[in-house]
Amino acid sequence: MSTQHLGMVASPVYTIRLLLAEAERSLKAAGIDQAALEAAWLLEHVLHLSPLMQRVNAERGVPAVECASVQTLVARRATREPLQYLLGTQEFCGQEFGVTPSVLIPRPESALLVQETIRRCRQNPAAIVVDVGTGSGCLAVSVASILPQARVLAIDVSSDALAVARANLAQHGLAARIECVRGDLLAPLGMYAWESQVDVILSNPPYIAELDLLTLQPEVRCFEPRVALAGGHDGMDVHRRLLQQAPTYLKAGGVLLMEVGFGQAASVCRQAEASRWFRTYDVLRDEGGIDRVVCFEKTEGPQTPQNDHTHMPSVTSGSSS
Ligand SMILES: C[S@@+](CC[C@H](N)C(=O)[O-])C[C@H]1O[C@@H](n2cnc3c(N)ncnc32)[C@H](O)[C@@H]1O
Repeated sequence: MSTQHLGMVASPVYTIRLLLAEAERSLKAAGIDQAALEAAWLLEHVLHLSPLMQRVNAERGVPAVECASVQTLVARRATREPLQYLLGTQEFCGQEFGVTPSVLIPRPESALLVQETIRRCRQNPAAIVVDVGTGSGCLAVSVASILPQARVLAIDVSSDALAVARANLAQHGLAARIECVRGDLLAPLGMYAWESQVDVILSNPPYIAELDLLTLQPEVRCFEPRVALAGGHDGMDVHRRLLQQAPTYLKAGGVLLMEVGFGQAASVCRQAEASRWFRTYDVLRDEGGIDRVVCFEKTEGPQTPQNDHTHMPSVTSGSSS
């Protein structure tokens, strides 16, 4: 029975204009820079009206249920919960990825890892590519979309993250082409007998130093998963472990590509060269001019009598700056 039959006409409390203005005020008060834009995006998410159509229909009433939905999202955003977790999506390399608080929100600078992988595989389209710490799966999906013959393996230690990655692979029609495995760094490769077989290992590992974790903006510090951020005392624990593990699985001339944090590139390169399993062939800068991706090619290895693939490099733990 409709509310009219009962004499209860549900009158809209807010117009779009009023709801938008209230949302913008709340977000501004919470210290959000692009308050007007974000308010419009939150309304768009609930009302399915673009910011332009919101202006065109500014005096239209908003039903109470939708009003409440917008107000709930605004209140959550005002606690500094990232907009992407509220909307459930983030664009990366021209494609949309589902995101939840179990995964890092993909960052534009990580596209450098995708670009370099594609460049390296131009002559070898059926390459074996391993994405370590896949999170949402954004790197694995982007690579597999551009290299349809590549064999791509996506690894993560977090089963919650892998659930998000699997949903994204399915969403992009790549579930049959990308294998997702739970495990610690390259440990799962043992099952594949891929010793000296892998063409590219790419990784955006956790790289925030312990003390820096406290200085991150609240969106990151309070909401993104710690396992995706914390890289140990100096932020380079995972880089060191990958430098140690990767020579076993990379073929000669294969590459290890790792994203690094501000000020880490020189130290990671020194450690790679010191192991003598790697030659640094490039350091890629992001749009802010920061050294962001270190590119290593596997060499023949240390020239010692024991120089074979069971003689692994010794990469010291702890800061080496
Ligand atoms: C910085 S996030 C990167 C996520 C995604 N690749 C991206 O670029 O958006 C790091 C990811 O590494 C995973 N991770 C952390 N330690 C790991 C480990 N020891 N082995 C495998 N994955 C790990 C985290 O769960 C997280 O998903």
